[in-house]
Amino acid sequence: MSSYTTRKTPGDTEWFRMDRFGMFIHWGLYSMPARHEWIKNRECITEEKYDKYFRYFDPDLYNAREWARRAKEAGMKYAVLTSKHHEGFCMFDSQYTDYKCTNTPAGRDLVREFVDAFRAEGLKVGFYYSLIDWHHPDFPIDMLHPRRYDDNALELNKGRDMRRYAKYMRDQVTELLTNYGKIDILWFDFSYSKSEPIPGKEWMKGKGKDDWEAEELIATARRLHPDIIIDNRTEIEQDLWTPEQYQPVSWIRHKETGELVTWEACQTFSGSWGYYRDETTWKSPEMLIRMLVNTVSIGGNLLMNVGPTSRGEFDKRAQDALKVYADWMHGNARSIYGCTMAEPGIEAPADCRLTQSADGKRLYIHIFAYPFIHLYLKGLAGKVDYAQFLHDGSEILFEEGKVDHFSEGALEEQSTLILKLPPVKPDVLVPVVELFLK
Ligand code: GLC
Repeated sequence: MSSYTTRKTPGDTEWFRMDRFGMFIHWGLYSMPARHEWIKNRECITEEKYDKYFRYFDPDLYNAREWARRAKEAGMKYAVLTSKHHEGFCMFDSQYTDYKCTNTPAGRDLVREFVDAFRAEGLKVGFYYSLIDWHHPDFPIDMLHPRRYDDNALELNKGRDMRRYAKYMRDQVTELLTNYGKIDILWFDFSYSKSEPIPGKEWMKGKGKDDWEAEELIATARRLHPDIIIDNRTEIEQDLWTPEQYQPVSWIRHKETGELVTWEACQTFSGSWGYYRDETTWKSPEMLIRMLVNTVSIGGNLLMNVGPTSRGEFDKRAQDALKVYADWMHGNARSIYGCTMAEPGIEAPADCRLTQSADGKRLYIHIFAYPFIHLYLKGLAGKVDYAQFLHDGSEILFEEGKVDHFSEGALEEQSTLILKLPPVKPDVLVPVVELFLK
């Protein structure tokens, strides 16, 4: 058996650990300047100047069904959309603000179309909701706020009331979890109470759970959707650990108890979450597949991000990247869904990664660097009933304890299983061997 027990949490993470692969979508006004979703912070843009994006936001090519189709084709089983990012702009029709898509030329509830379309394709749906808000009049100017370098920043903070803002968040979360049917994931982002202050501006404190009134915020969400998966970024531990822009090298463990936890790496196709026209660090096809495999091989999920254009489309580069997943997952998804880290004691051959089905009956070898003919699996002699390439179901012959008659008994341990691969690597980015264990 290779089903591991993870730390018990309030939400239902069972389905999540089976599904393994999701789509993150960062979409908002920042897709118009197209130079990072933090642009308002990075370029210290005033409200007045940022307003032009609000006035011209017109995603006329947005077709959520098309997005959902592409996500599904790529093998993604759930999707998380930014309902509001740090800029504060709401992609849904909220009664608590005018700063929302329905008041732009878009004129429609973009979140609703997302939810309907993804659900129709059978994907689970989640909302990203920014705790940070650089538009809300009650959100104090702090170390991350676009107005942080203004001489009169202290002055500007007069009358701003974080309590009112916390209430606003609860009201909006209530809307999001009431008006759109069943929501599977709530992805709050993020706390920074321990961040270093800007020198000389120590009063610009970071923010954390007390500022968000996180306990109440989470209770509000749980009252509406008791099983929902909530991340840990409010600073209160919930269901989900979320390493970002780096790949863990072993299963994440709980800091205090050492238990294995439910985790999800979030990653981008290129260096930005929001659509970034001139960004060029797009990941290679091999890297995309390896990241997914690496993640599942140590018991995690991968949430891969797309930043749609301001007209509402996945650009060519994003489409190509999704196609890489679609092509690979078409024949290899079986080594991902319902799979996890291989049981202790099974050692991956050189340049390979293992996953194993939850019932322990199938072991998957992902070959990152294709070897010359033989693949050695220590300790598996006598344990494998049948072996095949996963993508085409073609048999792979194997020997136990020896490579051929010249080496008999000499070169290998009797307990080593030796797979005999074809000399030419099949035309698959990362070939997978499926072993049926006895
Ligand atoms: C962050 C960033 C951000 C992005 C997110 C995704 O903390 O602020 O822009 O939305 O992480 O994980």
